[in-house]
Amino acid sequence: MNRIAEILLDWYAREGRDLPWRRTRDPYRIWLSEVILQQTRVAQGMEYYLRFTERFPDVASLAAAPEDEVLKLWQGLGYYSRARNLRAAAREVVERFGGVFPRSLDDVRSLRGVGDYTAAAICSAAYDAPCAVVDGNVYRVLSRLFDLAEPIDTTAGKRAFACLAQSQLDAAHPGRYNQAIMDFGAIQCTPASPRCEACPLSESCLALAAGTVADRPVKRGK
Ligand code: ADE
Repeated sequence: MNRIAEILLDWYAREGRDLPWRRTRDPYRIWLSEVILQQTRVAQGMEYYLRFTERFPDVASLAAAPEDEVLKLWQGLGYYSRARNLRAAAREVVERFGGVFPRSLDDVRSLRGVGDYTAAAICSAAYDAPCAVVDGNVYRVLSRLFDLAEPIDTTAGKRAFACLAQSQLDAAHPGRYNQAIMDFGAIQCTPASPRCEACPLSESCLALAAGTVADRPVKRGK
């Protein structure tokens, strides 16, 4: 295992958050959690996740629900297209995949409302597929560790970070590694006041050495 992944997994075992969707390998529940968390903070999303999994314990029950009911349960989360896509995707699972949540990255990615990030998050967490997730946390952690000034909001930059993220993935525990790097970004390597003085990766962090932590990641838009 590479040294950075080893330190991240070790940190995660000590500091990672115990979240209900991390206690399951059910791709349906993991998908639900990821769609809820697309534009919602964990603290708020939790209640909705519990509500949805209680009312719709499996993909068939969600597919069979009237749209009104799904929207009502979604009330307060905003971005209602997510709720409509959620129900539409559940119906796709029933119609196109015989009610069994798909397994391959391409099939998962083909569902309504599922993009690259969400597909990688689902397949790694549910199936341990070797797919690195790249979200805002991952951009920040990697741009600091490697002191990369490549912008994260250009096609070339996104591609470069996706490659780097993939090269850092721990192939033996892709699901756990992805959760670890996201939590590390959310808790330790935060945007405004990263805890560099108490960081297990401080000796490897090129931005810390160069004094550029506050300047990473770079956005071209600014
Ligand atoms: N935000 C998006 N996906 C998440 C996950 N799996 N755990 C915690 N926060 C998240």
